[in-house]
Amino acid sequence: MVFVTRKAHFNAAHRLHNPAKDDDWNASTYGKCNYPNWHGHNYVIEVTVAGEPDPDTGYVIDLGMLMNVIEDKVLEPCDHRNLNTDVPFLSGIIPTSENLVKVFYQELQESVESIAAEGSVLYSVRLFETERNIAEYCPFRQINI
Ligand code: NI
Repeated sequence: MVFVTRKAHFNAAHRLHNPAKDDDWNASTYGKCNYPNWHGHNYVIEVTVAGEPDPDTGYVIDLGMLMNVIEDKVLEPCDHRNLNTDVPFLSGIIPTSENLVKVFYQELQESVESIAAEGSVLYSVRLFETERNIAEYCPFRQINI
């Protein structure tokens, strides 16, 4: 099995706030990330496809075509936007990195798998909110805890 990854960048604003909780809970849970007037991140997204290379092309997926899908499904809706208010598929979702990777996976899956080599899958979506804070969604890896 071969794993192929495309990396992309976008900038976006957000605020972590759970409207079902009171202001004290939000302030103590999210700290600076709960400041009311938003803050921004330089996000890096990594999208990994797993499969066997197509015998004709030698590709698991054409990385240019994968970039076009990432552009269409994630960058165009999210880049230079407010993730709380501007992105329809994030409506009602607290935009933590954990929640974002799960939604991005759902948004990308069908289009990515339609252009990948036969039998390939969207393996994982990784999101760097900062260089040090990273979330990854991979439905193929589970641990027993
Ligand atoms: Ni933040």
